[in-house]
Amino acid sequence: MDFIANVQVLVILTVGILSGRGCVLEQPIGDGKPNFINEISSTEIAYVGNAKSLDCAAVNFCSVTWYKDGIPLPWAPQEAAQDPNQAEKSQILRFKQLEFGDQAEYTCIVSNGVENINRTIRLVVLEDSRADKPIFLGSNGGSCTDRTAEVGETVRFSCEFFVGKALLTQSFVSWYRVDKKGQTPAEWLEDIETQTEQSSRMDSVIVSNLEIPNIKDNAFGSWMALIYSNGYQADAVVSVNPSPTGNGGTAKSLLEKIKMGFQKHE
Ligand SMILES: *[C@@H]1O[C@H](CO)[C@@H](O)[C@H](O)[C@H]1NC(C)=O
Repeated sequence: MDFIANVQVLVILTVGILSGRGCVLEQPIGDGKPNFINEISSTEIAYVGNAKSLDCAAVNFCSVTWYKDGIPLPWAPQEAAQDPNQAEKSQILRFKQLEFGDQAEYTCIVSNGVENINRTIRLVVLEDSRADKPIFLGSNGGSCTDRTAEVGETVRFSCEFFVGKALLTQSFVSWYRVDKKGQTPAEWLEDIETQTEQSSRMDSVIVSNLEIPNIKDNAFGSWMALIYSNGYQADAVVSVNPSPTGNGGTAKSLLEKIKMGFQKHE
């Protein structure tokens, strides 16, 4: 078993390295570096039985290689260089009819023949658009992860929760300061200025932002976004850490502290 797993890793590495070579960019644009065209969320939600596409459209590419949970897809277009149409197509991974087994992390590696860029998209396949529990999704561009900052800087977190269509208007996110004394709602903090903002996207995702302008020492530490939806709650915890170079700042662990917890709220 171990032996087989090792062989698979070796194959992935080999393909990964090869995919960056052996193709030639015909008409470079600008500096010729590969670049993704569309911004997309790091987590995509779709419903079983529906069609779905994952987008790695890029400029300055001559090959695209897709991986599902680290395994190269069988139709990985090694021949893409010879067939520009095929290369074009494979920038977008299309599912005609989603199955639960399609839920995975998909990575595309896009190469201009010299250098690679990559993108990983988590695809979540749900039974229908009515979720009963909120699901923490993270956010586009990792803006719901730990941050380092210096005193005086402004820090902004943006965290996303899937709640389902029917529950969008009845779901609410609150931000808390989490410290040794417990949790203090952001709006109760007299000595830390904060701004929060809630919006939605895709008819079923709540986006909650926390902005801490002009960071002072007392804003360093953990903050939690807590969502209530349909009697359930879920949360995301993020930290603002003092910059290791800042005066007196200690190089704290930047380990991701995002916790997912579903608890029935009585
Ligand atoms: C993806 O890109 C990142 C940042 O450029 C790099 O560190 C990482 O090794 C790349 N991953 C793969 C699988 O090529």
